[in-house]
Amino acid sequence: MERYNRVAIALHWLIAGFIIALVPVGLLMEDLPKAIQPLVYQMHKTFGLMVLFLSLARIGWRLMNPPPPLPATMKPIEKLAAKGLHLIFYVLIIAIPLSGWMMVSASPKNLPTMFLALFQWPHIWFLAQMAVEQKKTIFDGLLETHELLAFGTIGLMVLHIAAGLKHQYMNKDNGMARMIPRLGGTTAPTHQPRGAGLVFGGTVALFVAIALIGVFSGSSAPAQTPAMESEREHSGNWAIDPAKSTLTFTFTHVGNTIEGRFTRWDADIQFDPDDLLDASITARIDLASAHTGDATYDAALPEADWFDLASRREAIFESQSITETGTGEYLMQGKLRLHGLSLPVSMPFSLKIDGDAAHAEGTATLDRLAYMIGANADPGAEYVSRKVTVTLSLSAIRRADT
Ligand code: HEM
Repeated sequence: MERYNRVAIALHWLIAGFIIALVPVGLLMEDLPKAIQPLVYQMHKTFGLMVLFLSLARIGWRLMNPPPPLPATMKPIEKLAAKGLHLIFYVLIIAIPLSGWMMVSASPKNLPTMFLALFQWPHIWFLAQMAVEQKKTIFDGLLETHELLAFGTIGLMVLHIAAGLKHQYMNKDNGMARMIPRLGGTTAPTHQPRGAGLVFGGTVALFVAIALIGVFSGSSAPAQTPAMESEREHSGNWAIDPAKSTLTFTFTHVGNTIEGRFTRWDADIQFDPDDLLDASITARIDLASAHTGDATYDAALPEADWFDLASRREAIFESQSITETGTGEYLMQGKLRLHGLSLPVSMPFSLKIDGDAAHAEGTATLDRLAYMIGANADPGAEYVSRKVTVTLSLSAIRRADT
């Protein structure tokens, strides 16, 4: 009986082992304690990416090293089914990790993927640059696809193992020994391995090239691990009423006060005045939606030195604490990720809750140069003020199910 060569066997079991481990981890990680969640998410993504490259190598190897023939006792229809199943497996071992990578790239949260905690793996650029609304739809579809493909693979694995066992122990054709040499006593590979340099060199080169893009392009997500790892939406207990809410920014230019407005932004709000420890606000602002009403400013804002929309379209604020400072007065502290930097921001705000409706007014002051915004065009703030005031006027309705 002929068998696969050692490299094919090693790749087969490595990929199978990773997939079997990654599925339960993927399913459970959202409910893990916050202390270990970031690590587990990052490991899931790292080992998932390893599966992607191991699978590319596996396919390259398969093309260079044709497999041993199927047992001669198999009927033509059985051979066709086995070959079809193998082909589906090759598609799946690429499609599952690719859908995971696409999902994290399209995530409205824009969380980083740290490869083995060593360097930041890049997002797929065209997905990362989409508008927030578009990202939400695509992200939901990709999460479902990722899950469905993973479950499909586990289902097919059961079928694959059952077929192998049937051949080995019922038909006694020693079919499983093609992949588990010890089962079949003296088995030999079809031929000596060939193409190792091309296959592994090519795979490593592709991996390094993509990793370098991440390292040198200053990927759109920060190189730090955020506290909230899950990519899913946690929409909280309040829904924003967009028609009655505004987010504006004010700065001065050669003494004139300019007011701009973001027309696309959203926030997940969990807020109960009696449980401030559990309160959290995550806001996502589509920077491409900034308008000042003046064509000159609107044309300059997307440029590399200002919002740099070609690299990143989103600013994300994540609250870290909300404390009461007086009756209906609060102080929210958190981090704003903008222009590739994540810096602390404080916003005092007033709040009125009337039954199921709430209205909040808050103001925060940002230092644009701390975010390196306009740092080349106007580093001394001679024309454009250093301070930018962000004003939030937010109306929200309590969610029915909370
Ligand atoms: C063969 C490799 C992989 C397998 C078998 C796998 C499997 C899974 C499964 C079963 C889930 C749970 C889905 C759900 O609860 O709906 C999951 C979630 C997830 N996977 Fe993967 N995955 C793989 C590769 C990847 C890769 C390469 C990435 C990203 C680079 C990734 C990122 C994620 C993320 C972020 C989640 C959680 C989404 C969330 O709930 O926040 N996965 N994975």
